[in-house]
Amino acid sequence: MIVFQVLSNRLKHSRLIIKIALFDKLLLIIISYLMALPLYATPEQDQIAFRKHYQQRFPELKLMDYANGVYAIDDIARQSWLAIEEFPPYEAAIEQGKSLFNKPFANGKHYADCFPESLIKANKYPKWSKAQGEVVTLVKTINDCRSSQHESTLSYEKSDMVSLLAYLAFTSRGKPIDIVIPKNDPRALAAYEQGKAFYYQRHGQLNFSCATCHVQNAGKKLRSEILSASLGHTNNWPTYRLKWGEMGSLHRRFAECLTQIKAEPLPEQSIEFRNLEYFLSYMGNGIPISGPSTRK
Ligand code: HEC
Repeated sequence: MIVFQVLSNRLKHSRLIIKIALFDKLLLIIISYLMALPLYATPEQDQIAFRKHYQQRFPELKLMDYANGVYAIDDIARQSWLAIEEFPPYEAAIEQGKSLFNKPFANGKHYADCFPESLIKANKYPKWSKAQGEVVTLVKTINDCRSSQHESTLSYEKSDMVSLLAYLAFTSRGKPIDIVIPKNDPRALAAYEQGKAFYYQRHGQLNFSCATCHVQNAGKKLRSEILSASLGHTNNWPTYRLKWGEMGSLHRRFAECLTQIKAEPLPEQSIEFRNLEYFLSYMGNGIPISGPSTRK
């Protein structure tokens, strides 16, 4: 009898476990179905949803306006920014970049020899490289070119690299961002998805995502600053920031935003930052290059 009771209890217990397991499974299916909607949206659908949010938030803005970052929505800051732009502090960098770009390498070749169009089109970067199996930013392209010509690579934040970026942005100014996610290589879509996940993922001790500030709270004030939209976040680089007292790159800014939320900043040109740049640039397709620029 006792044995029977124990057995029947065990049976009840195992039925319960099965029930819980089934319930868990059902819950998992429901959750993954709900999550699958945004997760399995195509980049085209993401782009439409991303822009729609800002259109509703800032109905007065045209797509082009996003090239000017926060100055598109902060009228007071815009006035002092326009005054700075009359004598732009990035002009010397453009000049230096131009002479570096045209200076021959030790083997007599030039940067232009690395590219079929002779001048690199900044609005086409970052690009998916099928051969390398990764996202190639303008910075990486410059260094890859140098390596192929047996030159040493440039440090990311040293003035030579930033000056080259300034010159290449300047020669592409006004050209609409034109990022392609090739359909014939699933790795490209995976890189885009990783960039997107990083953008929406929460980071750091403050547990904020990029979207917390630049989507949900865009246009609102954070201490003394108005938060910009992420649309057009990749268009204005490199940038002379008054805070830095020098020109700097997009990835330096990414790292600073991570530091602000007490997260570990990632290294410039890390795969995470390149994929993030790929995602954000794709969101900004069609917005003209406005770099180099100035910011507070
Ligand atoms: C705590 C809020 C906050 C979070 C979270 C945050 N940022 Fe920012 N970010 C700012 C502020 C403030 C500025 C300066 C004002 C502006 O342009 O929005 C800024 C500026 C930027 C800029 C420069 C825009 C320009 O026009 O020069 C970029 C790019 C940027 N953030 C990207 C990111 C990315 C990518 C993430 C996620 C890794 C992120 N931010 C997370 C607050 C935040």
